[in-house]
Amino acid sequence: MRLRLRERAAPPGPPTTWGGALLEVQGVGVTLGRARVLEGVDLTVEPRRWTAIVGPNGAGKSTLLRVVAGLQKHDGRVLVDGADVGRLAPRDRAARIGYAPQVPVLPDGVAVREYVLLGRTPYHPLLSSARDADREIAQDALDRLDLGPLADRPLRTLSGGERQRAVLARALAQQPRLLLLDEPTAALDLGHAQQLLELVDELRREDGLTVLSTLHDLALAGQYAERLVLLDSGRVVAAGAPGEVLTSSVLARHYGATAEVVEGPDGLRVHPVRPARPVRAGEPCPSVPSADDGPAQP
Ligand SMILES: Nc1ncnc2c1ncn2[C@@H]1O[C@H](COP(=O)(O)OP(=O)(O)OP(=O)(O)O)[C@@H](O)[C@H]1O
Ligand SMILES: [Mg+2]
Repeated sequence: MRLRLRERAAPPGPPTTWGGALLEVQGVGVTLGRARVLEGVDLTVEPRRWTAIVGPNGAGKSTLLRVVAGLQKHDGRVLVDGADVGRLAPRDRAARIGYAPQVPVLPDGVAVREYVLLGRTPYHPLLSSARDADREIAQDALDRLDLGPLADRPLRTLSGGERQRAVLARALAQQPRLLLLDEPTAALDLGHAQQLLELVDELRREDGLTVLSTLHDLALAGQYAERLVLLDSGRVVAAGAPGEVLTSSVLARHYGATAEVVEGPDGLRVHPVRPARPVRAGEPCPSVPSADDGPAQP
């Protein structure tokens, strides 16, 4: 069963062009407490493209997604199809941007079906209930994420991976033009991780969704995203095609990891290599030849 993205109703407010959104992040900075968590972040995601933000723990990836989702106070500007996200009304923003957070706050006492149906809220007149078309779209999203048999279960009874799929189903039921996914595969088994990423890629290719995700799994990031942006300590330190960003020296420098990166028939493969001794971030990687070059420039 296919998500009926082409039959969607027009979201409230201009513009109403279909297809993926153009995302422009310009000079974004964020301070949390006393920490400067993001500084001078620029990036552009063209319509119908998939960019993955990668980087070590604490680099600022989730903070950046929250900024783009319109949920985090920041310096600089975020434009979606030329509209400043910070100035959009929440309903208009929700009709353009779907966001699946890394650590979602889930309502208590709600069945999975009702939770996914909440994704349709931006399309209802205020205080009106869901229409049959909304229920069909929510059901399609449930089916696509293998949640049909769980639809009437209370959300709180789901496993971690099942919940993660429910969060994505809700974001897809929103029929956004820009989808933000924060570590979407973190709690998923290998099969469901692949299915989820294939589904997102199909929506991108066939329905024109624009995707900005974070992905800790660099092998998956290299296979699915067309462009990677590497954040370290809140700054963009490399950006480009996966082969330009994922190199052994970059992984040593920014992750303190020893790994080999090889070109496979279906894209890059990243193999962790057990180091002779632990490597600290910033040191050259001892067990992997560092013939490869520095990072691509942002
Ligand atoms: N309220 C806060 N006050 C101070 N620092 C904070 C606050 N919230 C987050 N941070 C810090 O901001 C930094 C960026 O956090 P963020 O969650 O964006 O990182 P991340 O790249 O998504 O990491 P991970 O890979 O672990 O998900 C971290 O160092 C975090 O400790
Ligand atoms: Mg994070």
